[in-house]
Amino acid sequence: MCGIVGYVGPQEATPIILNGLMRLEYRGYDSAGIAVIDAQGAIHVRRSVGKLAELEHLVAQQPLAGTVGIGHTRWATHGVPAARNAHPHVGMNGRVVLVHNGIVENYLPLRAELEAEGIQFASETDTEVIVQLVERYLESGCSLETAVRRALGHLTGAHGVVLMTGDEPDRLVAARIGHAGGVTLGVGEGEMFIASDLPAVLRHTRRMVFLEPGQMAVVEADRYRVTTLAGEPVPAEEQVVSWDPVSAAKGAYERFMKKEIHEQVEALTATIGGRLDLEAGRVFLPTLPLTDDAARDLTRLFTVACGTSYYSGLAGKYMIESLARLPVEVAYGSEFRYTDPIIDRSTALLAITQSGETVDTLVSMEEGRRRGARLWSIVNAIGSQAMRIADGYIGMQAGPEIGVASTKAFTTSLADQYLLALYLAAKRGTLSATEIRARANDLLALPRLVSQVLAQDETIRQLAIRLARYRNFLYIGRGINFPVALEGALKLKEISYIHAEGYPAGEMKHGPIALIDEQMPVVAIVTQDRVYEKMLSQVEQAKARGGLVVALANEGDQTIAEKADYVVTVPVAPPLLAPIVNVVPLQLLAYHMATWLGLDVDQPRNLAKSVTVE
Ligand code: G6P
Repeated sequence: MCGIVGYVGPQEATPIILNGLMRLEYRGYDSAGIAVIDAQGAIHVRRSVGKLAELEHLVAQQPLAGTVGIGHTRWATHGVPAARNAHPHVGMNGRVVLVHNGIVENYLPLRAELEAEGIQFASETDTEVIVQLVERYLESGCSLETAVRRALGHLTGAHGVVLMTGDEPDRLVAARIGHAGGVTLGVGEGEMFIASDLPAVLRHTRRMVFLEPGQMAVVEADRYRVTTLAGEPVPAEEQVVSWDPVSAAKGAYERFMKKEIHEQVEALTATIGGRLDLEAGRVFLPTLPLTDDAARDLTRLFTVACGTSYYSGLAGKYMIESLARLPVEVAYGSEFRYTDPIIDRSTALLAITQSGETVDTLVSMEEGRRRGARLWSIVNAIGSQAMRIADGYIGMQAGPEIGVASTKAFTTSLADQYLLALYLAAKRGTLSATEIRARANDLLALPRLVSQVLAQDETIRQLAIRLARYRNFLYIGRGINFPVALEGALKLKEISYIHAEGYPAGEMKHGPIALIDEQMPVVAIVTQDRVYEKMLSQVEQAKARGGLVVALANEGDQTIAEKADYVVTVPVAPPLLAPIVNVVPLQLLAYHMATWLGLDVDQPRNLAKSVTVE
């Protein structure tokens, strides 16, 4: 979950690394650090607790010079956020320095063993055992590459590491074990970059090499070499990525989350674009090959995901079951493997993940693979693990999502599930070409509908200001809008720290209704669909208990206008696509409440964008 950056080349490393860290700060932001090697081969380290600005301040006071360096932004697992626990970590004798992403599961016995040998530790982290192990091997005469290889052999758990030593001041050694987040090499002209995520290096190069788990790389300014951890050479495959640095920067927006909410029109257009042949009534998913026979043989789909992606999966179930008549079960990535799932070759497992790195989702994919499922993913981050290990994938086309609270990945992954549903429907023969054409046509209206919601940004901000004083919220919806209620509540709690619960509206009377009073606003999704009447009666029930009701309703709905305290209007959308439209005002509501409260919406406390620990 931490961010890693490395540089080796002719330029000063510090500004490049700090800039890279700034673009990765969404990954972790409780402390940060940087190390560079100077012209004499001496390592200099600066570390500070708090956000990156603190480190920048420190570096401004105590500058660093050198053209080879590594940096890190941390999300604490072992050891409180403190300068001593921040990375880079240095070996006891100062010969080697390391940044790390992951958890050393067996660090306690390793630490005890090293301490028994007289090695003194300077931090409470699990990470430090790695650097001490590497230094021990260096002291016995190994090269950095061999020392890293041997040290990694002692570790259990999943890791991404980058190291450097003053003994070999022209190179960095990077390695990846398991799913602790990516390690990407950015190939420049006479310079090389290393990063845990693309935004850190996009302004320098788009030529990337993605390290697979079990691979390591020795990186010099004008060359690099990839091997397995056992030392076997691996032919490195360079990929040119299409993301551009502008889309990974804030641009005119004050915050990434705001930018990303507004980018949904463009992101949905890109997601739908080129995937429909309306005349023929066909959907193209070239990266998810499937024969008609294989599609017909499918008996069940498991969707696995975490956080917002999980809620997207819950709404996608309605789409796939309704259009492709394929039973769908949706599971949390962190729970899936404990359910003893019934899987065979006629089962498909669909992982939904913006980052393509969420370790619980990746482990579920492995479990699906082990049990013989066909593996698919819907994923945003290009070159990520979830994209590479799947038999087929659909790219979200959302562009980089930096705000910790996911927004455009929710709506684009829903559009992708709708496309998948139509694709399966055609192959399974559950819809005719005419029906598919009509359904596909519905998709085309989405960018316009979403832009109509976005036009109400200021109205929603005014409402948010009125609501920001409440400390508890209930979000309710029925049918396909129940997952939207869950997502609306999640957005609010993530960034405003206000307690919010999403509930299926019909279940209110079995418990949550007891909570309702004038201090507990109820946000009800009451759009015109087959559960409209039932939702109206839920609103009545809340009002009868003195509740304050904020209704999300379709334009021109007089009935709800008379019942609710506040109404946010959304355009009418086809029922299966309504979540994509209805979630947008809830994203804006949460965004404006949190900013009104003066909170950091892009980097909410305790959270991280990519969760690479179990
Ligand atoms: C973290 C993020 C969420 C995200 C979840 C799943 O918790 O803060 O915004 O929804 O991980 O991430 P994924 O990358 O797998 O979609």
